[in-house]
Amino acid sequence: MMNWRKNGLFIYVLYILSSSISRVCFCATFVPTDNYLIDCGSSTTTSIGNRNFTSDNLSKKFITTQQEILASTSSKSVSSDNVDETPLYQTARIFTGSSKYTFPINQKGRHWIRFYFFPFIYDKYNLKAAKFSVSTQAFVLLSGFTAEKNPVMKEYSINVTSDTLVIEFRPYENSVAFVNAIEVVSVPDDLIAGDAFTLNPASTYSGLVSQALETVWRINMGGPVVSSGQDPLYRTWISDQKFLLTSDLATDVSKIAGVNYAKGGATENTAPPTVYGTATEMNKNSSNDISNTFNVTWRFDVESGFQYLVRAHFCDIVSKALNELYFNVYIDSFAAAKDLDLSTTGNNVLAVPYYKDLVTSLEDNDKLSVSIGPSAVNKDNPNAILNGLEIMKMNNSIGSLSAAAASGTGGDSSGSSSSKVGVIAGVSVGIVSALVLAGVFCVMCRKRRRLARQRQSKTWIPLSVNDAASHTMGSKYSNGTTISAASNFEYRVPLVEVQEATNNFDESWVIGVGGFGKVFKGELRDGTKVAVKRGNPRSQQGIAEFRTEIEMLSQFRHRHLVSLIGYCDENNEMILIYEYMENGTLKSHLYGSEFPSLSWKERLEICIGSARGLHYLHTGYAKAVIHRDVKSANILLDENLMAKVADFGLSKTGPELDQTHVSTAVKGSFGYLDPEYFRRQQLTEKSDVYSFGVVLFEVLCARPVIDPSLPREMVNLAEWAMKYQKKGQLEQIIDTTLAGKIKPDSLRKFGETAEKCLADYGVDRPSMGDVLWNLEYALQLQEVVVQGDPEENSTNMIGELSPQVNNFNQETSVSSASAVPFEASTVDDLSGVSMSRVFSQLVKSEGR
Ligand SMILES: *[C@@H]1O[C@H](CO)[C@@H](O)[C@H](O)[C@H]1NC(C)=O
Ligand SMILES: *[C@@H]1O[C@H](CO)[C@@H](O)[C@H](O)[C@H]1NC(C)=O
Ligand SMILES: *[C@@H]1O[C@H](CO)[C@@H](O)[C@H](O)[C@H]1NC(C)=O
Ligand SMILES: *[C@@H]1O[C@H](CO)[C@@H](O)[C@H](O)[C@H]1NC(C)=O
Ligand SMILES: *[C@@H]1O[C@H](CO)[C@@H](O)[C@H](O)[C@H]1NC(C)=O
Ligand SMILES: *[C@@H]1O[C@H](CO)[C@@H](O)[C@H](O)[C@H]1NC(C)=O
Repeated sequence: MMNWRKNGLFIYVLYILSSSISRVCFCATFVPTDNYLIDCGSSTTTSIGNRNFTSDNLSKKFITTQQEILASTSSKSVSSDNVDETPLYQTARIFTGSSKYTFPINQKGRHWIRFYFFPFIYDKYNLKAAKFSVSTQAFVLLSGFTAEKNPVMKEYSINVTSDTLVIEFRPYENSVAFVNAIEVVSVPDDLIAGDAFTLNPASTYSGLVSQALETVWRINMGGPVVSSGQDPLYRTWISDQKFLLTSDLATDVSKIAGVNYAKGGATENTAPPTVYGTATEMNKNSSNDISNTFNVTWRFDVESGFQYLVRAHFCDIVSKALNELYFNVYIDSFAAAKDLDLSTTGNNVLAVPYYKDLVTSLEDNDKLSVSIGPSAVNKDNPNAILNGLEIMKMNNSIGSLSAAAASGTGGDSSGSSSSKVGVIAGVSVGIVSALVLAGVFCVMCRKRRRLARQRQSKTWIPLSVNDAASHTMGSKYSNGTTISAASNFEYRVPLVEVQEATNNFDESWVIGVGGFGKVFKGELRDGTKVAVKRGNPRSQQGIAEFRTEIEMLSQFRHRHLVSLIGYCDENNEMILIYEYMENGTLKSHLYGSEFPSLSWKERLEICIGSARGLHYLHTGYAKAVIHRDVKSANILLDENLMAKVADFGLSKTGPELDQTHVSTAVKGSFGYLDPEYFRRQQLTEKSDVYSFGVVLFEVLCARPVIDPSLPREMVNLAEWAMKYQKKGQLEQIIDTTLAGKIKPDSLRKFGETAEKCLADYGVDRPSMGDVLWNLEYALQLQEVVVQGDPEENSTNMIGELSPQVNNFNQETSVSSASAVPFEASTVDDLSGVSMSRVFSQLVKSEGR
């Protein structure tokens, strides 16, 4: 009677709720190559959000100083507005003479340098009186600097062109220098690139690459503070309220979900949706003048005698239709943009982020004002918006960001060799506390973000448990579907049996934990090993949905999908019972474990098997089902190394089922996620194809899809492998254990297939069915020798391959002498639909 307990399934379980743990994180899309975070004077590592600031006392490899003075203060005395960063301000290094931090630079280019200063009294040192300069090899960042009272963070961005970055602290005479924390972090290359525009006279400015910049103000118009933890590049954006000249004239607007990052434009790294999705617009109720011709103006304190790079961020979240909004932007009364129409900059799509870089002229003015106002082009609907603003001080002609240094008069104690680090007393240090403003909102926003990401409920598909025969090339080409004779297959399992199987949910039997709940190892009465996934309790309604879904999904049966053996919904439980997969995840066979390395043929067969499983998901049911989290950790291997796709955390229950194509909740794993998702906020079958393409490269190269420990260009596997694929040098990066064992043609076919899967746009990617045929073809090319096609024999490729591959090719040549020409008799051996597809491909390539 226990139909659900099929025999022949003495399957081992290794089922981990991997996808539940790996959520997409918008904050992690850029992985900086250089990422030095130092909590100065601390004795331990300090975690700020998900970043660890290491102690410069535990490891002294960066610091050079004569006297070790590690200062600290009690927490109460720090009144940082940015609560998160408080721990950084509690310790400091004090320098009585010139001292240096030296950081090796792994990737030249723009880097952020951030200093945290909080002056407190320690021992005989009153840091409020400390006066000092800070410089790098090329630029003076601070001179005559005194941190007056509040915690202050100063941010610079510098294009580092040497192999090391040396940051030197130099106290003034009879004074000391100090610092609480330092960051040296790579900036994405494209963040500050290209040309800017000068205002007076209006022209193009192309010198940004060599410019050192100091962030003076970074503002989120019309919205709250965006704290460093909420920005993908750990920047802090403060609110614009207090800079408005006449605040009545302005009003806030917010539509964060509407922001539409388009290809080739501004990205989340340029500014996150929390910045582009809020704006300040004209408050049309404020004026009695019905024509509403007024400007909204912000005014900022700046240091005179410098030029500033002003980056204005726009995103039309106010218009209902295209070409509705036309407005003007002014900086210091110079026109920065005339009749700006964001429909045009967004290529006729609304709410596409756009920014403009503007360089001010050198002026003797310690205020910088920015205004927006309606354009005459659309008098019917006058409005103007601004979403964000960054004001960055540019180094002057002697490479300094400090006016004190510019004066060139000496004065620091160390008898400086650098005349740049001059001093004049009483220099004003105006622009100090810019970035350390209220972090009050940050806790709130964190919570909001977490809520927004809350996972939707997941359920799994019950599958047939028969036909575990391993897939063999050339013999079986059914579509893999096995319709069970018992169509009213009984999956339901009494709770008591589940309790028995898991030793009453014994905690020590837990093999995985995730958002859904826990996964227990278990053994049924007949000895079948199973994985039992126990969901967190749900409401009655939830149970009903759970049941409906199980019924619906019970129609999926495929030997390349992990089988559900049963479920249990007694007592509001949501329990799913799966087959135990003897050989664990594909991922564990590729790297990071003791498993012996898989051969190329085994790998191809695993790829083919999982492609079949996915193809079935996409086409085997009336509505296409999107897996949404394809990755090597979700491909499980049975005792025969047959691949089965697991964790279809896909289906939405109830009425939403009709919208299988439209996904609202973010799902997927970093490194595998379809880039198109970011543009369209939608996952499709082609998103699965993209992720599968990443898996293909993972299988070939046997390394993690994201590996931050590698040099920058290698961190992201998809990018790195595509580079080699495009150069036709894929063989250079394959798993070393495969070296010389892959036939060039098979590798080429495989590489081309993966490349197509990774096409930027979904429409350009092949269907899962096409991927399947191509992989089968790659396997054929590995196994069969094709005659008569010089190109497929690829003599022209051999020279580029490793010596082993050359040897291998010699073997091939020998065997090719006796190989049967590819003809009808061969085709007979290779029965089935897919083989004829392979054949047609072979024929086609022969005919080229
Ligand atoms: C710094 O490190 C030294 C050993 O290198 C240790 O003696 C000292 O206590 C440490 N200071 C602090 C404040 O942790
Ligand atoms: C930071 O340190 C904690 C505790 O040592 C560790 O668990 C975590 O993985 C570290 N985070 C990063 C990003 O290195
Ligand atoms: C840094 O400077 C070098 C040399 O001037 C230049 O080639 C490079 O593009 C710059 N990098 C960035 C990110 O600006
Ligand atoms: C402007 O006034 C109208 C009518 O008094 C009101 O409905 C609308 O919400 C106001 N708009 C703003 C932005 O305050
Ligand atoms: C807005 O400011 C600009 C620059 O100062 C000025 O030329 C323009 O006349 C102002 N527009 C209105 C309507 O006041
Ligand atoms: C900033 O410094 C760089 C390098 O020293 C120099 O080429 C550039 O002209 C300086 N910028 C200005 C505005 O003087």
